[in-house]
Amino acid sequence: MTYFSRILASTAIALSATIMSVGMADAKNFKIAVGDSGGSSQEATGKGFIAALEELSGGKHTATMFLNGQLGSEQDTVNEAAIGTLDMSLLAINNVTPFSPTVGVFSLPYVILSLEDAEKLTQGPIGAELTENTINDAGVRIIAWTYTGFRVLTNSKKPVKSVADLQGLVIRVPKNEIMIDTYKAWGISPTPMAWSETFAGLQTKVVDGQDNPYTTINAMKFYEVQKYVTNIRYIFSIEPLIISEQVFQELSAEDQAIVLEAGKAATAASAKFLREKEAEIKQILIDEGMEISDPENNEEEFIKLATEAVWPKFYDSIGGIEKLNAVLAEIGRDPVSE
Ligand code: MLT
Repeated sequence: MTYFSRILASTAIALSATIMSVGMADAKNFKIAVGDSGGSSQEATGKGFIAALEELSGGKHTATMFLNGQLGSEQDTVNEAAIGTLDMSLLAINNVTPFSPTVGVFSLPYVILSLEDAEKLTQGPIGAELTENTINDAGVRIIAWTYTGFRVLTNSKKPVKSVADLQGLVIRVPKNEIMIDTYKAWGISPTPMAWSETFAGLQTKVVDGQDNPYTTINAMKFYEVQKYVTNIRYIFSIEPLIISEQVFQELSAEDQAIVLEAGKAATAASAKFLREKEAEIKQILIDEGMEISDPENNEEEFIKLATEAVWPKFYDSIGGIEKLNAVLAEIGRDPVSE
């Protein structure tokens, strides 16, 4: 090799290293706070997001999940993301509602009656409008939806089949006014408690019970501290993946598009997980010794008390009765009137 060709070769190596480092200079490893443990629906969404993000960015970007509330309570992670000190969070929609009240429409009892309803609402114009609202109200953008299934009631004391059976039980609820008022409509005053403190609360018997979907109960090993399950199915749990709007706006237009596309893949992964795993997970709970029962009379008493007392109380905070009627229309249900 001549002196001249050696110079050329080393210049080419240096140049390609520079090009690579410029290309990778804005490579990201997004930090994702996750409220639930491994094996949860939230984790399935997170895995779907990371796989798609890596593929769509040609390996440039990745993300790391911090499971089981390691980065703080779900509600705290919304604040962290809002100020840009946390990139992303996977959390239940009921823990977003205090910061952006219109998403409360998804937590109104007995509005969403199936996974298909949840998919239609979140992936259509209503989901887009609520995403816009969370950006404006809370500084976070919803980029994917986790479909976790119906929240069912668990407790350590006794089988519950009616509203009468519920009396006397101390039930933990998220710090969410809609859920607090739903239990009040059923005649008890529940105990608001952060999700990150709930297992300990059940274990030490500060509270007797709580509600969450089968997949969450399993992932969090609640069967170790809870015995009885009642399929009250009052809320279909939706758990978005949110990104700090500040972090999102700092990305290039191309990277924003990649993140949004990866979010769609994550949503699809979540629906697949629920469809494929929910029945199997219910069986695991039974094998672990939980007793699962349905409420009497197709849950009529629970439905009547909750919808009559709770829906009207929250019309204003969700954006008016017409918002609820738009949601009901989208899923083929009759409107309500004042
Ligand atoms: C809650 O009960 O606070 C949430 O549903 C927890 C979760 O994210 O699973």
